[in-house]
Amino acid sequence: MVGACIRQKKRKVCVFLQKERLVFLGRKKGCDTARQERFWKREDICDMRKKWWHDLVGYQIYPKSFQDSNEDGIGDIPGIIRRLDYLQELGINMLWVCPVYRSPMMDHGYDISDYTQVDPMFGTNRDLEELIRKAKERGITVIMDLVINHTSSEHPWFLEACRDPEGKYGQYYIIRKGKEGQPPNNWRSLFGGSAWEPIGESGYFYLHLFTKGQPDLNWDNEALRRELYQMINGWLEMGIGGFRIDAIAHIKKDLSGGNVPADGPDGLGNGMRFFRNMEGIEAYLQELKENTFQRYDCFTLAEVDDIPDSRLDAYIGEDGYYCTVFDFCHCHHNLRDGEWEGRGEEMLLDIRDRVFARQKAMCGRGFFCNYQENHDMTRIPDRFLKKEDQNFYSMSMLPVLYFYLAGIPMVYQGQEIGMTGFDRNSMEEYADPATFGIYRDYLMQGMTEEAALHKINASIREHSRTPMQWSGEKYAGFSQSEPWFACNPGYPSCNVERQQADENSLLCFFKKVIALRRNSDYQETWIYGSFTALEEDSAQLWSFERSLAGQRLQIFVNLTGREALTKSEVHGTVLLDNYGELAEADGRLALKAWQAVVVKAGEQQE
Ligand code: NOJ
Repeated sequence: MVGACIRQKKRKVCVFLQKERLVFLGRKKGCDTARQERFWKREDICDMRKKWWHDLVGYQIYPKSFQDSNEDGIGDIPGIIRRLDYLQELGINMLWVCPVYRSPMMDHGYDISDYTQVDPMFGTNRDLEELIRKAKERGITVIMDLVINHTSSEHPWFLEACRDPEGKYGQYYIIRKGKEGQPPNNWRSLFGGSAWEPIGESGYFYLHLFTKGQPDLNWDNEALRRELYQMINGWLEMGIGGFRIDAIAHIKKDLSGGNVPADGPDGLGNGMRFFRNMEGIEAYLQELKENTFQRYDCFTLAEVDDIPDSRLDAYIGEDGYYCTVFDFCHCHHNLRDGEWEGRGEEMLLDIRDRVFARQKAMCGRGFFCNYQENHDMTRIPDRFLKKEDQNFYSMSMLPVLYFYLAGIPMVYQGQEIGMTGFDRNSMEEYADPATFGIYRDYLMQGMTEEAALHKINASIREHSRTPMQWSGEKYAGFSQSEPWFACNPGYPSCNVERQQADENSLLCFFKKVIALRRNSDYQETWIYGSFTALEEDSAQLWSFERSLAGQRLQIFVNLTGREALTKSEVHGTVLLDNYGELAEADGRLALKAWQAVVVKAGEQQE
């Protein structure tokens, strides 16, 4: 038996590895061996078993933009199958595929009109089965998106609800009578404009937190919940590995409060505190888990912003509602937009402090899913680095920031080759209804068209949805036909084929990052090791240590374009380095601009 003590704020957590079992012994003062032995024998120990999903390293696919196989300019499932070898070689072992269900595509698939069928745009249910099977042959688990806060306005349930708002299906949605022709309250939709839409001339309105093509479901209705559970179990029976669960923090709403303070001349306001993580949601989350996920021991990854530290056990603890959640603590930082504009260094330090605080709170209790990019945000080099600072070294230090944190790492398509966004000259070049809703709100707030377009260019999520850049061929090797959304004009120089041929490319470095994360010599430490922040008062470094059973792995990243010196001496073997040579001065590391290294501490470098 080997042991390790993880020091957290005011307590210690003792973790033991015993053969194939990780046993979490609970929180105790002190952590010496005698105490551990005594604690071991207590009956009330909390048993945190190793789970099959603990070693996952994920890759997110936005299917519309990944690979087209039938030359209609839209990515599809056979296209994903064609690229499975690439994904296997990259080294990941889990794929999250964004929604491919039947949909009018008002929100690019997050508006589902039939939960049981793949949309013909993406292929067939058979294609999906083939993808799951072929991925499995390569050791890759496929998880699907689960969108159950809302459906499409073209879902048969909703069509029926509109026909008879007081009938059975009217109860499936959040439908209320308006007041003198006005909506029931002044909530603003998350995508701009009112969150309520009239149902014809009926005097009724339905709630949609997202686009008006996405009516919110009424989770207070048990009949609806049962239908959803049945649908979920159907997919699990088919063999998928689990779900990424969309917008689940919003399923419970409190409509009793009336209007919220207006935040714009249109009189609408932000009602978030009445529809995110509302009291009472826990009962639904528990019921959902017990009736579905738990029965299949599947992997669940939920989109839940703002879980307080005190609630982490309930969400991602041993008996939590989910296996893991995305933490949003770095998502609101963008040096091209808002409060951080022009303050890149300060911004990265602020992110460091937030991420480390969350690590300290979470480590030993559960798993976060760590990520930098997804389909809802601009690309990471654009958010974290000035254009003039974007080079191999600065781009390659980015994955090192998060890959070795405690939790499950996720890569978003194109991140591994350093894809970026690009400015558009006119709004017509955008495609997402959410973009237009937000643009209209900017104009309504008094911005000029030019200023609004500038803000859209700096911050809009569509930048991450351009076609995957596979090669320098026309349309970037994504399709032979004109893609549904224009390629980044920079694709001839930034593409997979080119980077595969260059051993010094970002792609090749990314593979090393993933390989080290999955290397069996270190994997236990990455997964179960403690987290300790290092050099916390440094104004340049992002450093931390992961340790388990005497193995200490240390990460040092220089967040600046200037040399940075560690305060303490560092001794050990270098496991990863984006420069290939590491300078030291009196035992301290002298990191070059944007240098990122991983060191196995305690041994002299060979
Ligand atoms: C979160 C998804 O990631 C986003 O793309 C979508 O628009 C909303 N949820 C609504 O489903």
